[in-house]
Amino acid sequence: MKFLGIYFTGTGNTKRVCLTAQSELLSRGHSLDLVDAIENKPISLAGYDGLFVFYPIYAFNAPKPIIACAKSIKKLEKPIPCVIMKQSGEHLFWNNASSLHLISILKRRNILVRNEYHYLMPYSFVFRHSDYMAFRMKSVMEKLLPMDLDLFLQGKDVHVKRFFFDRPFAAILRIQRWGGRFNGRFYKVDANKCVQCMRCVKECPAENISFEDGKFRFGGKCLMCQRCVMHCPKKAVKAGLFDSWRVDEPYSFEETGYQEERKPRYCRKNYQRYFEEAEKRIGKAK
Ligand SMILES: Cc1cc2nc3c(=O)[nH]c(=O)nc-3n(C[C@H](O)[C@H](O)[C@H](O)COP(=O)(O)O)c2cc1C
Repeated sequence: MKFLGIYFTGTGNTKRVCLTAQSELLSRGHSLDLVDAIENKPISLAGYDGLFVFYPIYAFNAPKPIIACAKSIKKLEKPIPCVIMKQSGEHLFWNNASSLHLISILKRRNILVRNEYHYLMPYSFVFRHSDYMAFRMKSVMEKLLPMDLDLFLQGKDVHVKRFFFDRPFAAILRIQRWGGRFNGRFYKVDANKCVQCMRCVKECPAENISFEDGKFRFGGKCLMCQRCVMHCPKKAVKAGLFDSWRVDEPYSFEETGYQEERKPRYCRKNYQRYFEEAEKRIGKAK
């Protein structure tokens, strides 16, 4: 079967998920063409048997470029199935609200979300995980994803748990409505650290950073994706009003020995539950 996948990635975690899905589909004799939602290209599903959508959860919502990309799809004559693979820094069920808006946009276009999966990947914002934790998250995702794909290919639908006030909850927290426009203007480059490599300017997916008359300017199109912050080799980009939540160095995703995490207490149980459930599933499948 031939699938189309649309994705948005800020710091690269979602890209890892979609490349894993692509190679797993390929090894099962299927194909997945990937389109970066930021390219803003009109999406045509002619000739495809289904759609995959990959996104990082941003404040309990799907990122703006994913929503715009879904809206650009024309209504199909015949329904086709869709798989959502979202990932985020916590496996809280509140994050399930993130797909509601997207699912209704797709449904109006005859694209029916049959399977929805949520993987734990390292935080690009709020706090930094240890490289050990990042490696563990990535390894678990790489083992769960093939099993999840098989469920979809076998026609077994998987939907996530919803909660009573999920719609208003997600709508209120749609941080990119105001967050980027507002907080984006407070981003700064520390001139004492900056070596003017222009990586932030080149990497910004929204083309929101410019360098004029020896000064960096941040416009109102910021997506809060943190790519400029994380990829600055000198840790010179300050994340505006949320600077204390900055995560400023890419994760290595290399296997390291055990490292203690300085994560907040509320996450501890949540991570433990995710890994226990995942490892049980992986063990059963062996
Ligand atoms: C602006 C912003 C908001 C986020 N909000 C959430 C959230 O509500 N829940 C969560 O679990 N993770 C949240 N995260 C963490 C990301 O979902 C997570 O780090 C993800 O792996 C980033 O993927 P990427 O590298 O593809 O951008 C947020 C990250 C950013 C940058």
